[in-house]
Amino acid sequence: MSNILCIGAGYVGGPTMAVISKHCPQHEVRLVDINAERIAAWKSDQLPIYEPGLKEVVEIARGRNLFFYTAEHIAELINWADIIFVSVNTPTKTFGMGAGRAADLQFWEKTARQILEHANGPKIIIEKSTLPVRTAEAMSNILNTNAKGVNFDVLSNPEFLAEGSAIKDLENPDRVLIGGHNTESGQRAVQTIVDLYANWVPRERIITTNLWSSELSKLVANAFLAQRISSINAISALCEKTEADVEEVAYAIGTDTRIGPHFLRASVGFGGSCFRKDILNLVYISEQQGLPEVAAYWEQVLKMNEYQEARFVANMVHAMFNSLSGKRIALFGAAFKANTSDTRESPALAVCRELLEERADIALCDPHALENARQDLGGLADQVAFIQDPYQAADGAHAIAVLTEWTHFTELDYQRIYDSMAHPAFIFDGRNILDHQALFEIGFNVYPIGKAPMQHFNHNDQGAGVLPK
Ligand code: UDX
Ligand code: UDX
Repeated sequence: MSNILCIGAGYVGGPTMAVISKHCPQHEVRLVDINAERIAAWKSDQLPIYEPGLKEVVEIARGRNLFFYTAEHIAELINWADIIFVSVNTPTKTFGMGAGRAADLQFWEKTARQILEHANGPKIIIEKSTLPVRTAEAMSNILNTNAKGVNFDVLSNPEFLAEGSAIKDLENPDRVLIGGHNTESGQRAVQTIVDLYANWVPRERIITTNLWSSELSKLVANAFLAQRISSINAISALCEKTEADVEEVAYAIGTDTRIGPHFLRASVGFGGSCFRKDILNLVYISEQQGLPEVAAYWEQVLKMNEYQEARFVANMVHAMFNSLSGKRIALFGAAFKANTSDTRESPALAVCRELLEERADIALCDPHALENARQDLGGLADQVAFIQDPYQAADGAHAIAVLTEWTHFTELDYQRIYDSMAHPAFIFDGRNILDHQALFEIGFNVYPIGKAPMQHFNHNDQGAGVLPK
């Protein structure tokens, strides 16, 4: 039996430990977090994050071999643990050297020092947070320069789960990646963690590498995923200028097995806590290593994402006669993707901020993310109406913008919505999830991503003409 501690009970630490404890009843798993409110929520029926299937998993293990603690217990917990996962946040630095690009490692370093202070015996320390390459080495250095003579093996075990499908991804991962030092003790530690995951993951899906490859692979995986979205979004702009349809193009190229069909959904842009942060990190590392061309290449993925968001808003302004001032606009979606309450880096909030600049009157609607949206919008929240019911949000609106791909938005009665809106009524589908032809037939002027708009009137200065009714 092992004593497993996870420091940081967030979107990654919480679900990961829940699944480990479910599959490994022989081990005891404890989570600790400095956020007491979060810990209280983990212990309650209202979990701190919305994630399909999470509650069921937590309920299996909580109180059996899964326990939650606040930070005042950190010393005893560190001492108790054999294996410590560190899953504290590593946001982009907002100050000093590397501001806006490098990862802020202050929480990580503080955690390493706490481990050093309170550990009285050997431990395996696992990087679960995404970190710049060679952080593990720095951590090893901090940890292993201790006067107590305690041995720490630092491993990298990046998490590839996507929010909204976290439980599915953890239960049935494409791969688990474990990086360790090529020393006897390092390899023993790697084997311990391989054995842990082998309780439910087939061995052939557990990849072991050296530490640096593991750390870098996490950044590269996210950079490649984001790059595919930026690539298809770049093509969506071209499609809107020609008569190509981005979904047809994505399908046509995705059937090539070398390209594959995934992550080719054109959208208003990608969000989430990882893509932007990890690419900035990759850019920063490349610059630091004297590779400006490599840095510029990856930076372009972010620039394209910003362009796509800005282009979406510009299309709205342009379609709605160059003025949004005082017009009510219902934003369908606040979360950065469907099936999550998370609004970090959400394109929906970026669009919301830009529309507020245009002095539009915003009704923001989302089934699970309104509370996080309110917090993320900070001082701007006063200018936004937060309305969970889409019918109410759209009531009297001039336009709807679909910004998150919640299935819920595809199942609404759009005739009823149209009847309650100001006319001409506009709908901007930033996720291409609605039935555009049906909406057009109801009377909406429809603006998908990467397809010709469907308008009931002629915009003289716009490429597309009037489409037949
Ligand atoms: C984590 C990592 O932060 C990120 O680098 C990686 O890319 C994905 O995994 P996530 O779990 O989504 O991200 O972050 P968050 O939900 O913010 O959770 C981090 C938790 O750590 C928070 O609950 C925070 O309160 C806690 N924390 C932070 C500590 O317990 N101690 C600290 O010193 C700092
Ligand atoms: C991502 C990675 O997928 C995951 O492996 C890593 O551990 C963390 O970062 P996440 O950010 O939770 O996961 O969600 P993901 O499904 O990757 O979506 C990211 C963003 O891209 C969302 O805003 C989503 O809407 C957008 N997206 C995704 C598109 O716009 N088009 C697509 O085809 C796919």
